[in-house]
Amino acid sequence: MDLSTTFTGLRFQNPFLLSSAPPTESESNILRAFEAGWGGVVTKTIGLHPVVNVVGPKTKFLRADADSARLSMKKRPSAALHSSWNWELISDKTLDWWVPRLGRIKQAFPNHILVASIMAGSGNDTELRHWQELALACQNEKCDALELNLSCPHMDRPDMGSNVGKDKELVSIVTKVVKDVAKIPVWAKLTPSTTDIVVEARGAFLGGADAISSSNTFTSLPLIDPQTLEFEVQVDGLVSTGGLGGPAILPLSLAKTSQLTQAFPDKSFSGIGGISTFEHALNYFLLGCGTVQICTAAMLDHAIGPNVIRDLNQGLARFLEAQADKGWKTVDDFVGLRRDRVVAQSKIRRPTEKDYRGGYETEGYAAAEELTR
Ligand SMILES: Cc1cc2nc3c(=O)[nH]c(=O)nc-3n(C[C@H](O)[C@H](O)[C@H](O)COP(=O)(O)O)c2cc1C
Repeated sequence: MDLSTTFTGLRFQNPFLLSSAPPTESESNILRAFEAGWGGVVTKTIGLHPVVNVVGPKTKFLRADADSARLSMKKRPSAALHSSWNWELISDKTLDWWVPRLGRIKQAFPNHILVASIMAGSGNDTELRHWQELALACQNEKCDALELNLSCPHMDRPDMGSNVGKDKELVSIVTKVVKDVAKIPVWAKLTPSTTDIVVEARGAFLGGADAISSSNTFTSLPLIDPQTLEFEVQVDGLVSTGGLGGPAILPLSLAKTSQLTQAFPDKSFSGIGGISTFEHALNYFLLGCGTVQICTAAMLDHAIGPNVIRDLNQGLARFLEAQADKGWKTVDDFVGLRRDRVVAQSKIRRPTEKDYRGGYETEGYAAAEELTR
């Protein structure tokens, strides 16, 4: 069955991508991913300078017991996945390492979509030119699109990663700088760790972004072991904040998605966070995303998710078949169908006739005028 879709002007064989993360950190992984059937991949984020990761594990998985409230990263039988936690930096390979490989991947799979994720500093003009250098190098190797990493949650520098994504002006500037040289679509990957993601999305669209990808991981800490009193992930007793992904963030990321797609109903969105089945992905499509991206589920499935992509494709095919009477042929036919079902609480029906007015009038809350005094 034809599962293809067009997103930001690019034709995808299916709307499922591996997101920027370990599954896309090498040429061999990306080639395996395309062979397995992923419609697209976003490379592990590429920078100009080498990074050095922490000693020991960069990612761990938090699991929940079925018969108790225990949550722990300790390996044990029959516990269910709750989330991934990571403090991995961007690719430890430099742009020079990536460039020939991007070209080779594109040659081997010209009909699959290769998105280059890039990141640089943004504190001065020289650093902004680094964004352009990265963009041009990837574009020259025939990458199909660029994704700007404005969302890595564990950068020290105030002008990198999610620290850029928290600043609407910087989001706009970085996007504009890249758009000035890009001939291919530019997606901005935003951080969920802000008060109102619509503000930063507006900055990205003002800068010319063709799409928003959301979410990156949520800023978080590993839990403390009650026996040792040490964090479950630590080096010499120390930890930094890192990023939470996997099942736990699916509902959180959906709330961000709903905010975004309602604010910008005519724009393009790539949904990320907690997806491992078509039923999960369906939430993002119905709220208004044209593609979705997957990381944690793929990491746990032979590193690149061969079973995950098979199930996603089969799930979409089954869904389209089941909905044939509606005449739906592609995801586009149902993207955004439930976007407007998310409303203010006062719009939800009450059991009695008496109206609820969102706490504005005589319901025990202070009246709006009193609050502003
Ligand atoms: C170990 C690890 C490394 C990651 N590295 C990157 C990265 O380099 N660039 C990026 O944009 N996102 C990165 N991410 C975030 C993922 O692409 C994705 O946005 C996030 O994990 C949520 O999706 P999930 O719930 O399917 O895991 C990383 C995630 C993990 C777990």
